[in-house]
Amino acid sequence: MAKSQEHLIGLLLGAEGDWPRAFETLAQRMGVVTDPAGTEHRVSTERVTIEPFNLRDKPRHDLVIDRLAHWYYHPREWLKKVALMDDVYLLNSPFTFQSMEKHSAYCALLRLGMNVPETVLVPYKNPIDNVRWAYTSEKYNKAFDLDRIADELGYPMFMKPFDGGAWRGVSMIKDRAALHTAYDDSGEMLMHLQKAVDGFEVFARALTIGPESMVMKFRPDEPMHNRYAVEHGFLSDAVGTEAVTIAQTVNAFFRWEFNSCEMLVKDGVVYPIDYANACPDVAVTSLHYYFPWAMKALLKWSVFCVATGRKARTQVDTGPWFEVADNEGLDYQAKLAAYQRLADDHFETERYREFCDAALPHLDEMVLEWVDSDDFRSLLTDTIRATYPQREWDSFEGHFGGLTRLWVSDETSRLGPGRSAADEAVVGGPAPALTD
Ligand SMILES: Nc1ncnc2c1ncn2[C@@H]1O[C@H](COP(=O)(O)OP(=O)(O)O)[C@@H](O)[C@H]1O
Ligand SMILES: [Mg+2]
Repeated sequence: MAKSQEHLIGLLLGAEGDWPRAFETLAQRMGVVTDPAGTEHRVSTERVTIEPFNLRDKPRHDLVIDRLAHWYYHPREWLKKVALMDDVYLLNSPFTFQSMEKHSAYCALLRLGMNVPETVLVPYKNPIDNVRWAYTSEKYNKAFDLDRIADELGYPMFMKPFDGGAWRGVSMIKDRAALHTAYDDSGEMLMHLQKAVDGFEVFARALTIGPESMVMKFRPDEPMHNRYAVEHGFLSDAVGTEAVTIAQTVNAFFRWEFNSCEMLVKDGVVYPIDYANACPDVAVTSLHYYFPWAMKALLKWSVFCVATGRKARTQVDTGPWFEVADNEGLDYQAKLAAYQRLADDHFETERYREFCDAALPHLDEMVLEWVDSDDFRSLLTDTIRATYPQREWDSFEGHFGGLTRLWVSDETSRLGPGRSAADEAVVGGPAPALTD
């Protein structure tokens, strides 16, 4: 008789309703998964509730997708407990949050040879709330000339918090007056000054889940529902590969599993600017065309982790990465190739692909069927109604309905009449191109 295992995936949620519902539906529709060794896996999902817990309690979950612990400490401490005591696999682990700000990612990427724009960290503008501040500041805070630092960086530049997120406190600085206003306004935020990548050609945003990356063309000046352009092949092969490698490198390096990474491309050079997001936006109203890809990647990676009993590795192991970084015999391209190999080792990419081929051959078809169903359309409608004022419901039905129908049509062609899936391209999804 075939061996059989049950797995419970916990969802630790904040205010999101749309993607959890999609994920739960797809996990249910997926049915029993048979791995290459013939073991049957039954995967179910459950929303994690917040309640007292004894440190000796045994959790029922094998894996938790966490969207809450970056700001809510009770569940964060529960996550740490279940990771340390019970081997529960986490996307993402709070043990990796300590370095989950842009600053550490910049430092790591610089050491690895990436083109992070010139960046300076300046001390707090205002006293921080600590009784020892006055003494420490008087004794040790060295006076500095903000104008001189800015002149050396050159205008325009960005002033932004070292830990960043959601564009809070970010300003573009074009001259000295704006520099001083922004610094005065920064108050108790700790700020980077960063040279602007002025006149960049492409803003690429890579959403990465385990070994899966989708590089999307991002338009930061558009409203949220229109930021991701549906455009394929908008980067050359080389730049597209570099974008994926940088995103997977930073994740594998810091042991992040679910992250979105931002880079600007100018004259063929990729500049990483924002690389650490414990809770990347995967709302259907942001991702639209790319939403099915994201749900599929999240499901495939979660199932792979629980079915293969993948062990979490939360400690950063800088050794192998710095060995490549510090090898003067390697040029940038050779280093990128070496980093990709390290990332592939970390995420067990080859084993993951084999697992998906053997155990989840029906997934593409199942997701396509669902996105083309009334069930998905009602999820979209509910989300639109929960997100926008009534006067905009119709136009957003048209907008998101059109973009998801476009995905259905592209996906139908990709899977072809014989339903043998061509590889999903990682730069903006499947070719051929259609633009919204
Ligand atoms: N060095 C830079 N050059 C050009 N644009 C930048 C630069 N840094 C930030 N920006 C712009 O500011 C936005 C917010 O900055 P980012 O570092 O992504 O902060 P957050 O973490 O708040 O998203 C970016 O999406 C981009 O549009
Ligand atoms: Mg950003």
